[in-house]
Formats: sequence, C-alpha cells, structure tokens
Amino acid sequence: MFRALGERLCYSFAMRTLVLYVSKTGNTLKYAEEIAHAVHADLLPARKFKPKMIAEYDTIVFGGWVMGNQIRGLDKFLVHYPQMKEKNILIFSCGMSMVTQQTRADMISSNILDLYHVRYYQLRGSFDYQKLGPIQKLLMNNSLRLVANDPNASAEQQALLAIKDTPIHYYDTEGVNKIISVLHRLETVVEVEEVK
Ligand SMILES: Cc1cc2nc3c(=O)[nH]c(=O)nc-3n(C[C@H](O)[C@H](O)[C@H](O)COP(=O)(O)O)c2cc1C
Repeated sequence: MFRALGERLCYSFAMRTLVLYVSKTGNTLKYAEEIAHAVHADLLPARKFKPKMIAEYDTIVFGGWVMGNQIRGLDKFLVHYPQMKEKNILIFSCGMSMVTQQTRADMISSNILDLYHVRYYQLRGSFDYQKLGPIQKLLMNNSLRLVANDPNASAEQQALLAIKDTPIHYYDTEGVNKIISVLHRLETVVEVEEVK
C-alpha cells in the first residue's frame, strides 16, 4: 500500500504473524483466537508447529496455560530460539493467578525468560476445580499442599488456597488488547524516495 508522506512515499508491508497456543480447557485458545483474528494471523496449536514455518513469518506469538508456574509447551518452542533471533517474539501466559509485579517477576524467573529477547505478557484465565479431571485434581492438590506448608508463601499464593470452593471466571480484555496494539505497532514501515 502506498501513501503520500510529504516529499516521500511510504510503503508499508503487511506483517505476517503466526499465533501458537497450548490450551487445556480453552482459556488460552480464546485469547489466541482473539489475537489472531485482530491481526489477521495464522492460528495453530503449538504441537503442529514445525521449525521450517519460522521463515514464513515476521512475528510469532506463543500463548500457553500455566501449571506450577510453568508456561506449558514454552520450552519446546524456545528450543528453536536460535532460528528466531531476527523475528518479533511475543509470549503470553494464561493462569489463574492475579497479575501483579511479583507474580510477573515469578513467571519470568520460573520460565527463565530473561535469557531471550522476547516480549512477555501475563494474562489471567478462568479456573474451575470441579471441572478438572482426576489427574489434574491430584496435581492441583499437590500444588496447594506445597503452598499451605510454605511459611514464606506470598499473600497472593495463600489466597489460592480457597480455589477449590471458588471458581475464577476471568477474561483479561485490557491485557489481550495490549498485545494486539503492540502487534499493530510492529507493522513494518519502510520509507522510499518518491520517483517523479
Ligand atoms: C494442575 C494445575 C496447576 C495449575 N497451576 C497454576 C499456576 O501455577 N499458576 C497459575 O496462575 N495458574 C495455574 N493453574 C490454572 C490454569 O493455568 C488456568 O486455569 C488456565 O486458565 C488454564 O488455561 P486453559 O484453559 O487454556 O487450559 C493450574 C491449573 C491446573 C489444573
């Protein structure tokens, strides 16, 4: 698309974006769908991602649900980081924890995100203990036991102990809009001299 800009012409390329997701109960998928729809990106479950796809995109967004502070599937995705250094990489997590400076710092540290040149966004999703399968209930109970026995557990962690009786229904519209607006701003604009 050409657009007059004073003495110059401005040529803007449509950025090619891929949105990958790992979702167990649909919350991460909902965020991934909204992002992909807003920026006309391709949407794919992360298990179908192949390294040869990297060359086709300028930007890759990876969203994963959180279990035990780990973003599911992120390690497998970041194995390919050396081939993605020239790309824009955005990562978002979807967990039940409240989003605070502390929980964000914990997520960055638990997922060793400081090692990579990526943008990270922490989104809050829904959680309903009664809807979990037996294995997830068992894992959840183990996590809650760890928090209950940890004298250094933060107030946010302790608040999670009520999670079995209190389902969380959350959709972070502000958070997802922030990701979308960053993606819009990443659109590449190259200025070229006007030819008369
Ligand atoms: C076994 C288990 C462990 C979890 N651990 C965490 C956690 O450490 N931190 C967190 O924020 N959310 C945790 N969650 C909540 C999920 O991340 C949350 O429900 C998320 O919305 C699920 O996303 P999905 O619907 O895309 O699968 C846990 C959920 C389960 C079942």
